[in-house]
Amino acid sequence: MVMDVMAAAARIEAAGGRVIHMEVGQPAAAAPATAIAAARAALSARLGYTETLGIASLRTRIARHYGETYGVDVDPARIAVTTGSSAGFILAFLALFEPGDRVAVALPGYPPYRHILRALGCEPVAIETTQATRWAITPDMLLAAHRRAPLKGVLVASPANPTGTMMTGTALRALIDAAQGEGISFISDEIYHGLDYAFAAETAAKISDDLVVINSFSKYFCMTGWRIGWMVLPPSLIRAIERLQGNLAISVPALSQIAAEAAFDGRAEMETVKHGYEDNRRILLDGLPKAGFETFLPVDGAFYLYADVSRFCDDSFEFAKRMLEETHVAVTPGVDFDPQHGMHFIRFCFAGSAAEMHEAVERIAAWLRR
Ligand SMILES: Cc1ncc(COP(=O)(O)O)c(C=O)c1O
Repeated sequence: MVMDVMAAAARIEAAGGRVIHMEVGQPAAAAPATAIAAARAALSARLGYTETLGIASLRTRIARHYGETYGVDVDPARIAVTTGSSAGFILAFLALFEPGDRVAVALPGYPPYRHILRALGCEPVAIETTQATRWAITPDMLLAAHRRAPLKGVLVASPANPTGTMMTGTALRALIDAAQGEGISFISDEIYHGLDYAFAAETAAKISDDLVVINSFSKYFCMTGWRIGWMVLPPSLIRAIERLQGNLAISVPALSQIAAEAAFDGRAEMETVKHGYEDNRRILLDGLPKAGFETFLPVDGAFYLYADVSRFCDDSFEFAKRMLEETHVAVTPGVDFDPQHGMHFIRFCFAGSAAEMHEAVERIAAWLRR
């Protein structure tokens, strides 16, 4: 559905209109200057295949990040560098599951989880969440689904897309304990770590070694187009992931790995970008209720706000289309994240500029008044 919104936005722009893009979930900023400089310098050298699980110095640097950020010791041997977190999902699902296995994911949630699982012959088991649990799967929900028919895995994201909500460390631990108590493999998508506003995000790697953490340079480090991410693996899966990646991809692009390692030196620059998101978040949290959107949770992390539009319509896709046509503000209809209840929600991405956020709020308020 969001592709249709993007195509409609492109038509408006081709006709000379100025669209405020709040539909695409990616940072407006570029990669850290340190990453770009390292990539430039590397271009004149030979770029060959690298070690299958990633250049050793990058794996060591990522492992060090766990000590620096969360105070947890991670052996560099447990780090696998991947082509974005997207490749991490494919590798994890292939290593952990067999065709027919049932894997729980939250609704609303990032659609490719379900689509990749289905493409691999697994059965995604959608667990409907609500604002009452801050859009998170609880141990009770997980165990109820497991009782209906055994689950082999569960995947959660915190901060989450499309809701921007986070699980506390206690809630995450309780869910991991519940899953592990039943032999359900746990996958933690931590791609929005670093972008937390309400409280510090906890890594699942601190709670247990026996689960898969998936992360990426795409969001905090603003490197979506570089296609680079990583996994923290349980020791028992390292060899399986190495063999899968060796066969599926040989290795991850060398240039992106070199840039990614240098990205860690650009954290000051990325913190400035994050402060921009914090300002944008404040503008939307203040402005959207005044404009007429009253029901949404106050965004713990990431750069998304998931607003209830049931006051205005029964079909968020039609609503997003009309809003785009009449205000030139593009958002994503909730149906992309939850085919049923998503009809009542739209997602705003606030990774743009503060001026755009102010203007979007003004345009929407004037439209809703009309
Ligand atoms: C929750 C979540 N996980 C994973 C991804 C995939 O990101 P990438 O493959 O760029 O790391 C996205 C992208 O938007 C996302 O929102």
